[in-house]
Amino acid sequence: MRKLYIIGIGAGNPEYVTVQAIKALNAVNVFFFLNKGEDKADLLLLRKEICERYIEGQSYRIVEATDPIRDLSIADYTARVERWHHERVLLYEALMERELGDEESGAFLVWGDPSLYDSTLRIIDQIAARGKIPFDYEVIPGITSIQALAARHRIPINGIGDSVLITTGRQLSASIPDNIEKLVVMLDGQCSFKTLPDQDYDIFWGAYLGMDDEVLLSGRLSETANTIETVRNELRNRHGWVMDTYVLSKRSEGK
Ligand SMILES: C[S@@+](CC[C@H](N)C(=O)[O-])C[C@H]1O[C@@H](n2cnc3c(N)ncnc32)[C@H](O)[C@@H]1O
Repeated sequence: MRKLYIIGIGAGNPEYVTVQAIKALNAVNVFFFLNKGEDKADLLLLRKEICERYIEGQSYRIVEATDPIRDLSIADYTARVERWHHERVLLYEALMERELGDEESGAFLVWGDPSLYDSTLRIIDQIAARGKIPFDYEVIPGITSIQALAARHRIPINGIGDSVLITTGRQLSASIPDNIEKLVVMLDGQCSFKTLPDQDYDIFWGAYLGMDDEVLLSGRLSETANTIETVRNELRNRHGWVMDTYVLSKRSEGK
């Protein structure tokens, strides 16, 4: 039977790849690399570098395909994402059917960890449910951008015994539950931390974590927000893309 590995490769540094991931990489015949557009060619290169660096004495094939893009003419966000997922289901299923022999192993290398803001597992689950091609699959965890951020700033993510909210820029702009002291914000193209002017937070921000171009900034939100926005804009213009994550930590009275 075909076997599929969904391998978390960590969020940017080839040294985030785990021993378990290396073992899985060495069991793969075909890697499926989904190209997400020119600006992110660097991310494709990192995947290739990981294969070259960690696969020893085993021949493998790389199959590249272009990931479908979201249809912005669909106004409703959920409907738009569902449509996009469906197109990816059809693409991934066709790739597996065409490129993977009955007894071969294939892999999708997922940025960071597959369980965090990534749709690969949902797509694979849908392909399995359709039952068109029988296959078994295994998920290998990876180091998330959240762990990379915490390590680089040398901070714990939670207060003692407290909850942490992991959310997106889009959600942050909408509202934050009252009892939340610490938040991790991802997928924020709009610098949504600027929408919290009355709240006293510390921010721990990181871009291109684990990569050669990594940038870290931290400080009181009210004093640092403008600098982070300016730096972020400069970085995006220079590289053509930017990935950043941050922790917001509510300051206690008198701190
Ligand atoms: C589609 S999500 C993928 C998250 C990934 N699965 C993980 O485990 O980190 C992409 C978001 O992750 C964050 N991210 C991923 N890699 C990053 C990095 N190297 N530096 C900073 N943020 C990163 C950013 O917030 C980015 O918008």
